[in-house]
Amino acid sequence: MTYQEQLDKSRIPQHVAIIMDGNGRWAEQRGKQRTEGHIRGVEVVRKIMENAVELGIRYLTLYTFSTENWNRPEQEVTALMGLLFKNIEEDVFIKNQVRFRVIGDIERLPAPIQAKLNECIEHTKDFDRSCMVLALSYSSRWEITRAARMLAQKAANGELNPDDIDEKTVSESMTTNFMPDPDLLIRTGGEIRLSNYLLWQSAYTELYFCDTYWPDFNMEELCKAILVYQQRQRRFGKTGAQVAAQNLKQE
Ligand code: IPE
Ligand code: IPE
Ligand code: MG
Repeated sequence: MTYQEQLDKSRIPQHVAIIMDGNGRWAEQRGKQRTEGHIRGVEVVRKIMENAVELGIRYLTLYTFSTENWNRPEQEVTALMGLLFKNIEEDVFIKNQVRFRVIGDIERLPAPIQAKLNECIEHTKDFDRSCMVLALSYSSRWEITRAARMLAQKAANGELNPDDIDEKTVSESMTTNFMPDPDLLIRTGGEIRLSNYLLWQSAYTELYFCDTYWPDFNMEELCKAILVYQQRQRRFGKTGAQVAAQNLKQE
């Protein structure tokens, strides 16, 4: 049986976040320029988006370019921006009926990219089946700092009482406030770290790390990750017995 056939269709994670890592090493291993890995990586993004729709995943949040990635050699950053511009194709989202969204410090991106992103967001905003979110110029520390500043500003303006700030208020100040927290976070490329991705949101996310470089990631690997996720018991601080009793009640 394939991994896909083994999946419990009634327990597909609602929100899957992915740290798409390993493009550079994939290329270097083949004696190619790092950019070649990024080009391949973009093709995989398209396929995985379609696979996610097919599996019924509602939100797919892809770490595409981090705040720290701005520190890469200028040539690589330019190549990545070029690829981004070329590949934001609203036709693909429209064909798959996927809503497109972006999180991150978008104002740092070149103006033509910002314009294209905004157009794509606008033209796909009514699709409600699946949503693909690109994290661009994103990092959690940027996002949390921004949220702190916004809340402080509201308090200073007298619009918010500091005593009223709770977890919900903070969550609503995050750029991800239009979607649930990730159920599953996948990192490809072999590193076991979060690299400043969705730190607030993944407080109770199931983490899955694999060695596969992003350009080699595929439907089978995605299903394997979901299968591992389905074998885990999400306890949210409770005991295993409590969770088992809760699940029995729901059935
Ligand atoms: C991930 O692949 C893509 C981006 C960070 C833009 P990398 O470019 O980090 O690939 P490795 O980690 O060097 O192999
Ligand atoms: C994380 O990958 C960022 C993206 C996948 C966009 P990096 O390759 O930048 O992560 P580090 O620097 O190795 O932690
Ligand atoms: Mg990397």
